[in-house]
Amino acid sequence: MRPVSIRARVLYLAIAFAVLLVGSVTIATYFFVADGMARSAQSTTWRLTQVASNAVAKATTNAKIQAASEGLVGADREKEAQRLLLRAIPDLFAVGGVEEGAFAFYVQENGASGPRLVWFSDPRAVVSDKASRARAVSTRQSLQSGPGGRSLLTGMFARADLGQYVVHVPIDLPDRTTGVVDVVYVPAREEEILDSARRPMFIVGLFALLVSVLMMQIIMGWVLSLVENVRTAADSIDAGQLDLHLPEEGEHEIADLAHSLNALMDRLRRRAEAQTRFVADASHELATPVAGIRGYVNILRDWGAEDPAMREEAITAIDRESRRMARLCAELLSMIRSEEILDFRNVRYDINAASREVLATAATRYMDKHLEFVGPDEGPLWLYGDPDRIEEALGILVDNACKYTQEAGRVQVMTSRHRDRVVIEVTDTGIGIPERDIPSIFERFYRSDESRSKETGGFGLGLPIAKHIIDTSGGMIWVRSKVGAGTTFTISLARNRTKELKE
Ligand SMILES: Nc1ncnc2c1ncn2[C@@H]1O[C@H](COP(=O)(O)OP(=O)(O)OP(=O)(O)O)[C@@H](O)[C@H]1O
Ligand SMILES: [Mg+2]
Repeated sequence: MRPVSIRARVLYLAIAFAVLLVGSVTIATYFFVADGMARSAQSTTWRLTQVASNAVAKATTNAKIQAASEGLVGADREKEAQRLLLRAIPDLFAVGGVEEGAFAFYVQENGASGPRLVWFSDPRAVVSDKASRARAVSTRQSLQSGPGGRSLLTGMFARADLGQYVVHVPIDLPDRTTGVVDVVYVPAREEEILDSARRPMFIVGLFALLVSVLMMQIIMGWVLSLVENVRTAADSIDAGQLDLHLPEEGEHEIADLAHSLNALMDRLRRRAEAQTRFVADASHELATPVAGIRGYVNILRDWGAEDPAMREEAITAIDRESRRMARLCAELLSMIRSEEILDFRNVRYDINAASREVLATAATRYMDKHLEFVGPDEGPLWLYGDPDRIEEALGILVDNACKYTQEAGRVQVMTSRHRDRVVIEVTDTGIGIPERDIPSIFERFYRSDESRSKETGGFGLGLPIAKHIIDTSGGMIWVRSKVGAGTTFTISLARNRTKELKE
């Protein structure tokens, strides 16, 4: 089964995320609006309650005054006042400002279990909540029951239902009993507002959901197209095609990745080119002596028996060419080995002693050139590193110095210390290197025309090996030279590389 693609995964995630986000924002918004409406209904209810209880209190006083003015006393006056009040009640709620409410009036009769309904403004006002009404009478405090609607949030999916707000207000009646006014408010206006908000809220929510999913898909499409480029690059590396260049525009991680991949492909391409060049050069270098040997073998076969001089010449030439081949093989092996060695020793050694040793070895080899060898004569100069590898590099430089210096010339190695670095200079008074050759001498198989024509027998592998050793030892190597005057190769090495690396 094919695993779910990143695009599909992101789509699912985007939908889940958007539903969660948009859903919670919608629910929260609806909740705040519904809560506001409920509060508004509550305050309307209390305003109606206030108006109703003030009106009844005033009417009670008026009824008492009127009964008194009729000259009645005692129980008769109370009865008359009660009668007058009950007659006045309907008019009390016919005035403006209380239209939204519904009202019912109850009186407590002697012997009855609870207040009895005597008047109501409209049927909505008649609520069967005897217990609350009786409690309002006994505690003599206004008591709210309701609103009793469905949960505020149900209005999101169905018609809003905020319930109805009921307040039972106890009233002192002229006949010393306690009556109750039920103030009922049905928040139809608030419910209407909530209902009208539902549809646009859903449309906006759905739109936000679609927009956010679409945006995530667009972003994902963009990212995936960049990833696709990277995959193309990986494929082309796999197919050995290294001339692809990925677009690096933009300041983002994928551009950084493309940049790194381009650098990697450049490096691989350069390495592949160098490898091809190396193989071609090595084959060419080997082919020359092989051709020479074959030529002399033919001469030997044809004239070797009759002409002893010819035979001698052929044998000498074969010996020379085979030695050259052996030397080339040794140098190639040395180069391959030096590139393979990854772990360098790190021991303390005296570079002055090492330099003197290298010079002494060269002196025995180039005895017939009567060169003057000058080495560092001061005490030890210690540094940390791999003495064998550094001596190998130094040996290559000294060998060149001897090889490219005329008889009775001078070859000198000098060392000095500059803070935490050691500088080694190999100077000769030889033929020098033409300026145009200097940038190329560290390339494999490169030989300046001068040294080629002189038939010094080199292959152009010494300096690349030396440079590789110095580079991998964390040092630097450079050259100064003047044709006809001499050459100086300079090596700079850290005295303690491990310390430098740690810092
Ligand atoms: N001290 C020097 N004086 C003059 N030319 C030099 C000196 N050292 C190097 N060169 C030039 O740089 C070229 C490359 O040197 P390198 O040591 O790599 O090769 P080589 O000496 O020709 O051969 P190999 O070292 O492989 O036997 C030489 O052919 C020579 O032209
Ligand atoms: Mg050399």
